[in-house]
Amino acid sequence: MNVILLGPPGAGKGTQARRLVEERGMVQLSTGDMLREARHSGTEMGRKVAEVMDSGQLVTDEIVIGLIEERVAGAEGTGFIFDGFPRTLPQADALGAMLQRVGQSLDAVIEMQVDDAALVSRITGRFTCGNCGEVYHDVTKPTKVAGVCDVCGSTDMRRRADDNEASLTKRLMEYYKKTSPLIGYYYAKEMLSPVDGLDEPEAVSDAVRKVLDKG
Ligand code: AP5
Repeated sequence: MNVILLGPPGAGKGTQARRLVEERGMVQLSTGDMLREARHSGTEMGRKVAEVMDSGQLVTDEIVIGLIEERVAGAEGTGFIFDGFPRTLPQADALGAMLQRVGQSLDAVIEMQVDDAALVSRITGRFTCGNCGEVYHDVTKPTKVAGVCDVCGSTDMRRRADDNEASLTKRLMEYYKKTSPLIGYYYAKEMLSPVDGLDEPEAVSDAVRKVLDKG
């Protein structure tokens, strides 16, 4: 089963993707995570990627399609969770073609609906374990022991350079301009399932499970 998690920055895509990995052994393909790895590679490409990400704009289709292609060709598991990809119509077309080439198809597109007001506090309060990737929040999901990851015990807690109000405003504009047309694109293909992303994380997971178990 292959599924896309679609939604604006802070909608909860990463949080739900991690739960699906744990529950179903699916493979999470997050272009944001891949690009964050690339930015630390020390290459010219990494430097350019970092500049674009920090300003809240989208990285070129060519780069992200290349990253996803590598993973789709090499991964094994019970399906892919596309987290933050596709983000433009050309990326959506490329994904369809890519899956077809490896004899697979897309089973569901989950649109995580949230309103902009909730996103500012979600984004500015977020921090992540640098070792295992667990996602936390200063208010809604703090660690049990301050500064120590509940999952792996690491003290390497990180905040993203683009998690500030100025970058978020740009990221939201990019979402509405370039990514939201995908809602119509997948609706027309009868693949779109909206879920209420403002609900508690467990209730969102229930809604996601229902979509996947129906499909
Ligand atoms: P990316 O890393 O994909 O970031 P994003 O889409 O902006 O999404 P986020 O990771 O910020 O949020 P999320 O929806 O995963 O929310 P999370 O679960 O963490 O992309 C970053 C950048 O990379 C882009 O701006 C772009 O430059 C580039 N890029 C990436 N992909 C690209 C592509 N395909 N094409 C071009 N460029 C690309 O949750 C957020 C917070 O809320 C957490 O603290 C969490 O604990 C909390 N939370 C989660 N769910 C709930 C809930 N239900 N209730 C309360 N709090 C919640």
